[in-house]
Amino acid sequence: MEAIIYTTNTGSTAQYAKMLAEQTGLSVFSMEDAKSEVEEGSEIIYLGWIMAAQVKGYKTAAKKYKIRAVCAVGMEKTGTRTEEIRKKTFVPAEVPLFTLQGNFNVKKLHGFYRLMMSMMVKMVTKQLVAKTDRTQRENEMLEIMLQGGENVRKENLAEVLDWYKREQML
Ligand SMILES: Cc1cc2nc3c(=O)[nH]c(=O)nc-3n(C[C@H](O)[C@H](O)[C@H](O)COP(=O)(O)O)c2cc1C
Repeated sequence: MEAIIYTTNTGSTAQYAKMLAEQTGLSVFSMEDAKSEVEEGSEIIYLGWIMAAQVKGYKTAAKKYKIRAVCAVGMEKTGTRTEEIRKKTFVPAEVPLFTLQGNFNVKKLHGFYRLMMSMMVKMVTKQLVAKTDRTQRENEMLEIMLQGGENVRKENLAEVLDWYKREQML
């Protein structure tokens, strides 16, 4: 493995990428910096934020680099929605994919993303508030949408680090 490359919007994915770099000793680059710093064809771990169940930047990164694992940073709990995100992003079955919970704050968004998310928050919260039999997942979603969430935690990388250690032993 040669590097960690990430795409972030509000910073959570960058935080995870840097934590992972500290724990693994790998170099870390944003997609932009990687253009000049990481050779095409290099083996990398790719981290991208989730938008509409797709990992941002994955397609571009996959064309240029050999992606050995993907970390998808979203608003939902670490380790959830993995199969849906794999499918929508077209991540091959042999590439490990980990979902990580990041931060969510509409006020940190700008332009189109802010508009899109504000509309989504309004629509989803209206539906969920009206629902009397909400599941636990729906309650968590409602809380995050109404209050925002700061959920970047070092512990969320445990599974990724286990995978990395196993790889190093091979
Ligand atoms: C337009 C938009 C769509 C989003 N769609 C999803 C989604 O489908 N699933 C999800 O878990 N999070 C979704 N999110 C939440 C972000 O993935 C989450 O806030 C993440 O922590 C952002 O990472 P970043 O701080 O690196 O930008 C969406 C955010 C925006 C702005």
